[in-house]
Amino acid sequence: MSNAQMWNERYAGIDRLWIPEPDPKLADVISNFSPGKALDLGCGEGRNAMYLAKTNWEVTAVDFSSVALERLARAANEAGVKVDTICSDIFDFLDQDDSYDLIVIANIHPSRTLRLELYKKAIKRISLGGHLFLIGHHIESLGIVGPSDPDLLMDDSEVTEAFVDQKIVRLEKITDIADHGHSAPSLLAVIEKL
Ligand SMILES: C[S@@+](CC[C@H](N)C(=O)[O-])C[C@H]1O[C@@H](n2cnc3c(N)ncnc32)[C@H](O)[C@@H]1O
Repeated sequence: MSNAQMWNERYAGIDRLWIPEPDPKLADVISNFSPGKALDLGCGEGRNAMYLAKTNWEVTAVDFSSVALERLARAANEAGVKVDTICSDIFDFLDQDDSYDLIVIANIHPSRTLRLELYKKAIKRISLGGHLFLIGHHIESLGIVGPSDPDLLMDDSEVTEAFVDQKIVRLEKITDIADHGHSAPSLLAVIEKL
């Protein structure tokens, strides 16, 4: 079974997999930005994409789960906001030429090697002065929440390595994660494209 099929089955087994509220750190970070074009990679049911659309961003949301995207499309329709939903592998999608003022990568956990590839591809798609918002389970959350393979968990070094030529605006281990209901740390990074 492919990863996309596994995610589809996971979504199909429950009415709603993730909370509807946006990541509070994303809401905090974008409060300082003027809305523009945003890309939410691995958007899931679209809690962050919906928030961006409601705050006047022009949003493209990509996921390889058609089930999750249908939920997002329905929510956008009901809320009267526009979100462009694209069913694709995020790595393939980033081969396109479009550029964005903001790319969101939230809670996407492939191997470290693949994450570095993802960051490299994503930064190319950001306009000069635009930002990448990155959040996910920190390596210190091992055994508490998130993936059980340490290679799938994040640490500072991947950010400093991947974005050596960019401006790292924020790089933090955060523990006040209200939306997961636990205190295992997440890694938050905000990168400005130079
Ligand atoms: C843990 S959920 C996070 C959803 C959302 N970003 C959030 O924070 O609520 C991970 C999502 O990424 C999607 N995903 C994982 N790898 C992907 C890939 N290579 N291409 C497209 N979607 C992917 C999954 O289908 C799932 O919806």
